Amino acid sequence: MARAALLLPVALLLCLALAGSAGAARKTVGVYELKNKKGDFSIKVTNWGATLMSVIAPDSKGNLADVVLGYDTVAGFVNGSSYFGALVGRVANRVAKGRFVLDGKAYHLYINDGKNALHGGHRGFSKVIWTVKEYVPDCDSPYITFYYRSFDGEQGFPGDLDVYVTYQLSGPYDLSLHMNATALNKATPVNLVNHAYWNLAGHGSGDVLGHVIQVLASQYTPVDQSMIPTGEIAAVAGTPYDLRRPTPLGSRIGLVSGGGAVGYDVNYAVHGQGFTLVARVRDPASGRAFELWANQPGVQLYTSNWLKDEKGKAGKVYGKYGALCLETQAFPDAVNHPNFPSAILRPGGVYRHDMLFKFSS
Ligand SMILES: *[C@@H]1O[C@H](CO)[C@@H](O)[C@H](O)[C@H]1NC(C)=O
Ligand SMILES: *[C@@H]1O[C@H](CO)[C@@H](O)[C@H](O)[C@H]1NC(C)=O
Repeated sequence: MARAALLLPVALLLCLALAGSAGAARKTVGVYELKNKKGDFSIKVTNWGATLMSVIAPDSKGNLADVVLGYDTVAGFVNGSSYFGALVGRVANRVAKGRFVLDGKAYHLYINDGKNALHGGHRGFSKVIWTVKEYVPDCDSPYITFYYRSFDGEQGFPGDLDVYVTYQLSGPYDLSLHMNATALNKATPVNLVNHAYWNLAGHGSGDVLGHVIQVLASQYTPVDQSMIPTGEIAAVAGTPYDLRRPTPLGSRIGLVSGGGAVGYDVNYAVHGQGFTLVARVRDPASGRAFELWANQPGVQLYTSNWLKDEKGKAGKVYGKYGALCLETQAFPDAVNHPNFPSAILRPGGVYRHDMLFKFSS
């Protein structure tokens, strides 16, 4: 105890010194790496869309693989339309007809998904340049913080909003994301998600139907033809959405569909409260696994149902079911469903979204 207490201030000083020297060119688009001390766990991120470009993790034999889909260069992410690794906002997922009423005023968002608004619009947070606020790579728990000021009326949303996201490595193999947002002058819906596409066998290694998944949720929010929640919060028991026990992803995937494609694209009502275990994923072949912890009421499971011939990193081509996404979040279209947990942030309040991926092998 005494020893830890002595070491901590020294570590903090070292970190701050490095942060100070990394201050130049904060708004140019760059690629930043965070690596653990052992060198077998690392990520790359870019301030374009606060995007997670790569996550390199060991398997049970120590073999390293990059376990998220993406592109080799930032230009690939700029051109891409699949939200690989992106930080999505101001409101991720769908808002019905891009319309909502807040404090008696009607708002109209940019429509980009049939009749609905999806993932914050045409130029949401995943398609803007963030400021690099702090980059602290040479530390026991290296981190980087991105900042974005969203303006009143951006993509139709009300009020100015300050948004921060920190990516951090800690423990032996922990990756955490801390997001916060503050509304500067008007109430607004906020729902930030990280849209990483996971393939624990390595990106581009084929489909993830053999991954074993567990989602700690006993309810989900059924949707209509256009992927908008009906408002019902239904039990998963007796349906192919029931993933409460570890289940091979492919075992019942043929029985579910969303928006016309076979596969999971569904929001679960997370069972636990506060910062809680949301899901476990394991690739039996490599032994790579993670636990996902978060503090959000929902989690979207998406099994890359629409991926097709997407040219990704290192010449790999990504196809259907080539990855899975677990996006902890507010319920989709919460702003139009008073029975869903509220996703409204008011001036003076703070939106906080914490995620923790605990990797093992
Ligand atoms: C941009 O995206 C399109 C469609 O996804 C793809 O066909 C094209 O090769 C991409 N171009 C570059 C330069 O990455
Ligand atoms: C949001 O996160 C940033 C970066 O960690 C921090 O500086 C800021 O104080 C946080 N804001 C609030 C309201 O907690």
